[in-house]
Amino acid sequence: MDVTRTIIADGLRQLGVRPGEILLLHSSLKSLGRVEGGPQTLIAAIQDVLTPDGTLVMPTLTWDTVHAKQPRFDVRTSPSRVGLVTETFRTMPGVRRSLHPTHSLAAWGRLRDELLDGHETCTSAGPLGSPYHRIVERRGRILFLGCRLSSNTMMHCVEEWAPVPDSLTADTEPLEVVDYDGRIIPSPQHRHAGARSRHYAKMAPLFEAWGCMVSGRVGEADCRLVDSAIMAERTLRLLREWDRDLFTHDRLPPTA
Ligand SMILES: CC(C)(COP(=O)(O)OP(=O)(O)OC[C@H]1O[C@@H](n2cnc3c(N)ncnc32)[C@H](O)[C@@H]1OP(=O)(O)O)[C@@H](O)C(=O)NCCC(=O)NCCS
Repeated sequence: MDVTRTIIADGLRQLGVRPGEILLLHSSLKSLGRVEGGPQTLIAAIQDVLTPDGTLVMPTLTWDTVHAKQPRFDVRTSPSRVGLVTETFRTMPGVRRSLHPTHSLAAWGRLRDELLDGHETCTSAGPLGSPYHRIVERRGRILFLGCRLSSNTMMHCVEEWAPVPDSLTADTEPLEVVDYDGRIIPSPQHRHAGARSRHYAKMAPLFEAWGCMVSGRVGEADCRLVDSAIMAERTLRLLREWDRDLFTHDRLPPTA
């Protein structure tokens, strides 16, 4: 049987997604099973549950297509590199994309502009005060729909906030953003350094112990819903007090 908008919306409610909240989505469309109507149906189902009082956010990253040799990001045309759902979402009615050459976010809903404004002034993906940080400040939740915690972009930001000194390149790359009116804005960027993200997934048992993650199924997809504020606060403590290189290996602290 095809997975419908109603099945997805019911599954999300059962998982604990609430009207009015901020939801940052990482997704695998295929993981749901055959979705009637494709990515638009998943997006509509999430919007049904959040209502226009809520805010749906997705990464629309371009880190691997915008770099020193290809420095220009066009907010209107640069494809998102993190899945079909995100690529569909970024051009839908009511959706805006932030002006960041490598780590743009697209958003819909009540807090869309409040979250996204000014990303072009950041010289890295997610410093304090950036759209990513605002999601955490407003206690947004991160939904991993059929995909692993290794896709947790917010953790790169948490490392910036700690700060983990070598998580960013010392020099900037001279990148550019083309905005919705075709204006070119210089946007020099410190890039992520090292291969840390492959170890983000080890945090699952800690998130459970901290009470900031619930798991469940939506359609055929295994899902995890994470409170970004608790996740960030507790992870910052670990980075500062236990091991600033927490994400360069697969070990966890004995007690956390
Ligand atoms: C990499 C990733 C996107 C792959 O997931 P995926 O489900 O294979 O790919 P997409 O979500 O892009 O959806 C496209 C797939 O859905 C399939 N599809 C198309 N229509 C569909 C429908 N109606 N119902 C179900 N699946 C459908 C496509 O055929 C394609 O599968 P294929 O490549 O095997 O042909 C996912 O595993 C992931 O990691 N997501 C998170 C990414 C992220 O946020 N990263 C941020 C940090 S880097």
